[in-house]
Amino acid sequence: MHRIREARFRRRYGFAPPPAWADFTGYEPILDVIERERLYLLEGDVLEIGVLLGGGTAKLCGLMKRRAPSKRVIAVDIFDPAFDTTQSPIGYDMAAIYASQISRVGSDQRAVFDQITAGEPNLVVVEGDSAEVEIPAERLAFSFIDGHHAAEYVRGDFETAWSRTVPGGVVGLHDYGGDLSHVTHTVHELIGEHADEIARVWTEGIIAFIQRGR
Ligand SMILES: C[S@@+](CC[C@H](N)C(=O)[O-])C[C@H]1O[C@@H](n2cnc3c(N)ncnc32)[C@H](O)[C@@H]1O
Repeated sequence: MHRIREARFRRRYGFAPPPAWADFTGYEPILDVIERERLYLLEGDVLEIGVLLGGGTAKLCGLMKRRAPSKRVIAVDIFDPAFDTTQSPIGYDMAAIYASQISRVGSDQRAVFDQITAGEPNLVVVEGDSAEVEIPAERLAFSFIDGHHAAEYVRGDFETAWSRTVPGGVVGLHDYGGDLSHVTHTVHELIGEHADEIARVWTEGIIAFIQRGR
């Protein structure tokens, strides 16, 4: 079963997938948006805020390496699983979820991430708090935001990405319409505040995609 899934992924995207356990979200719908919208033809790099074990990062690197090798994948994470203590209304604790994911495969998040993404030539890792770090890119074609889940972080991370997003570029936000109702509400506010700049909003599972007008 594992082999069949791997072969399907390779056939579809043209490179071998990282281990399934390293990609928490399931980045295939994200890769499909990049492919379908041909975001690799736009100016700008790719930004990911919140990488956890790096499986999604490796998938973004693999796709961009094939489609636009000069683009960089800028991966931002604080690599401190205890930092986000956001609780969902039904009692999910982000820090506990991350600790449990990491403990199954190693003891140090950054070490696991480095192993999963080893050798990716287009990867730039920025370690630190997304509210404080400098993003080393002026223009972005695609961003995926899945870092700290407090409303002020969702807002801040979106503004960081959106202010650099080129016309036609897309920002994806995880946890839209899921258990974290404050994330959903914040995404609604952001869509309203940027309504004049937005061409289109759509969802795939619990990811909201927001495309800048051309
Ligand atoms: C839900 S996980 C990311 C999952 C990943 N996108 C995936 O699907 O495999 C959230 C990540 O955000 C990171 N994080 C939490 N607060 C952060 C902050 N203030 N700045 C940067 N990263 C943060 C955590 O360390 C964790 O790795």
